[in-house]
Amino acid sequence: MSKRSDSRRTGRASHQPPGLALPKGKVPALRVVPMPADANHNGDIFGGWIMAQVDVAGGTVAGRVARGRVATVAVNSFVFKQPVQVGDVLSLYADVARIGNTSITVDVQVYAERGRADRWIVKVTEATLTYVAIDRDGRPRPVPAP
Ligand SMILES: CC(C)(COP(=O)(O)OP(=O)(O)OC[C@H]1O[C@@H](n2cnc3c(N)ncnc32)[C@H](O)[C@@H]1OP(=O)(O)O)[C@@H](O)C(=O)NCCC(=O)NCCS
Repeated sequence: MSKRSDSRRTGRASHQPPGLALPKGKVPALRVVPMPADANHNGDIFGGWIMAQVDVAGGTVAGRVARGRVATVAVNSFVFKQPVQVGDVLSLYADVARIGNTSITVDVQVYAERGRADRWIVKVTEATLTYVAIDRDGRPRPVPAP
């Protein structure tokens, strides 16, 4: 069977590194399972749904650094590397990339655990977002010292 038809049969991306594992020793900022209502007419999960989860995951880390309210000011980059499927168990890992005066830039990596008896890992998304620490009036405030 060709690589292409094999990947269609199993849903496995043929160009994913074999034996890809979740990052060792890291705790995901968010874990979530997409449902049929989150799918588009092709049966894959809406990009907008994935973007929302990434924004939430990055926001939890930025909010911890800012010790308070943050607003997303920019999505600097966003790559949908592989489609997300209904029933995938998504793990979203978020790391601070840069802390500015009022801003916090966060890298988010998303992995899917896929399959039932035979489970495997697919890296589905990579993104970088910038958040701004804001005060109660929604104005930028300095990120507090660690
Ligand atoms: C976020 C917001 C409060 C920032 O206010 P602002 O007056 O534009 O702020 P500034 O121009 O002073 O920029 C604040 C910080 O954001 C950074 N920033 C602004 N635009 C940026 C962009 N396009 N990309 C990356 N960083 C950006 C600035 O460099 C600055 O960082 P620094 O203080 O670390 O140097 C305002 O733009 C806003 O309310 N936007 C809407 C937010 C929103 O509704 N998000 C979706 C829901 S959370």
